[in-house]
Amino acid sequence: MPEAPAMHIDKGLDNTIIGESRKSFIDGQAGVLEYVGIDIDELARNSTFEEVVFLLWNDRLPTSSELESFEAELRLEYPLSQGVIEMIKGIPHEASPMHVLRTVVSGLALEDEECNDQSFESERRKAVRVLSKTPAIIAAFDRCRRGLEIVDPDPNLNIATNFLWMLNGEVPGEASARAIDVCLILHADHGINASTFAAMVTIATQSDMYSALTSAVGTLRGPLHGGANERVMNMLQSIGDLDDVEPFVMDSLKNKTKIMGFGHRVYKALDPRAKYLKTFAERIAEETGNTDLYVLSTRIQDIMDREVGAKGIYPNVDFYSATTYFSLGLAIDLFTPVFAMSRNAGWAAHSLEQHQDNRLIRPRCQYTGDHAVEYVPINER
Ligand SMILES: CC(C)(COP(=O)(O)OP(=O)(O)OC[C@H]1O[C@@H](n2cnc3c(N)ncnc32)[C@H](O)[C@@H]1OP(=O)(O)O)[C@@H](O)C(=O)NCCC(=O)NCCS
Repeated sequence: MPEAPAMHIDKGLDNTIIGESRKSFIDGQAGVLEYVGIDIDELARNSTFEEVVFLLWNDRLPTSSELESFEAELRLEYPLSQGVIEMIKGIPHEASPMHVLRTVVSGLALEDEECNDQSFESERRKAVRVLSKTPAIIAAFDRCRRGLEIVDPDPNLNIATNFLWMLNGEVPGEASARAIDVCLILHADHGINASTFAAMVTIATQSDMYSALTSAVGTLRGPLHGGANERVMNMLQSIGDLDDVEPFVMDSLKNKTKIMGFGHRVYKALDPRAKYLKTFAERIAEETGNTDLYVLSTRIQDIMDREVGAKGIYPNVDFYSATTYFSLGLAIDLFTPVFAMSRNAGWAAHSLEQHQDNRLIRPRCQYTGDHAVEYVPINER
């Protein structure tokens, strides 16, 4: 019998490298994030979400004609079928948008004729469909629950602009549309985070892209992951007054209650996305006159820097994206769905990478129970 390999427990998988990837690079100590080698800051300044999706799916930037045809491919998939629209209309209005998104992404598989085609090209086409339709799903549900007519997507608009158009029924200003576009770029990928891992585990069983992306949406929802941006907003609203920030933070730290939007499993320096979003949140706050929340946020950051900065606890991507989304008029429970809208790019990128070089992901656990336990018949227990 071959000798069993040495095993060690790595709860939370902090110190386990599960494979190779060409998608994103993170240096948590230096606060660096690159997509396919390009610094996130450069992409946020110069790129578009569509170009970033191409980059993550092809491991290189597109030429202008490649980008044009990729955008056309995405736009063709913007509309929802009547069946999906009816499904959304039938959902109770009080449902959480992340539950809705998870259900409807899963539902998209039901009307896809190539649902069981497991070829790489078919899985890629499914990823295009989910990525292109997610903004319409979120906007349609939000309008239904507000008692408004669903707005059809406009194939002349990019993903960010189209999302705001479908949500509000009016074409947004350039600054708002670009703000969403940059948020989508900044959230598009982040190594093997929990939801990406969930997608990879699913696709690695030779299941399909819809199942992988559905697993990912469910995983993103948790407050320790993508759900944190909504909790940040709830926290800011519950503090309310600038004078209450100091006692709130000090009490939370004393009671070991986590301050939402701070800390990260990988970053022990400032999250490079937070650095960019902070500048952005400030600009939008000034433009929209919503400065109170921004000032409150910077006060929290100052106190956290003073108290726990030395422990490597800094704002993460969720902290300033919350104020940015709020200033743009988004309902708080849409913050995490917007994160999902963007992260579809990374989920699909890693799932396709896994598909190309697959191995079933199947870790083990250390059994700590008893052995040789006698089975006691039910009437004798
Ligand atoms: C993201 C997160 C889960 C990473 O946590 P982790 O790597 O498991 O680290 P731990 O939870 O073990 O925390 C390590 C230490 O930092 C402290 N800490 C971590 N995040 C903190 C926060 N947001 N507020 C206050 N203290 C925090 C912990 O209390 C712990 O302190 P201790 O060593 O004195 O016990 C955690 O920072 C967190 O819950 N943050 C808030 C939620 C959030 O913003 N999530 C979005 C992530 S992008």
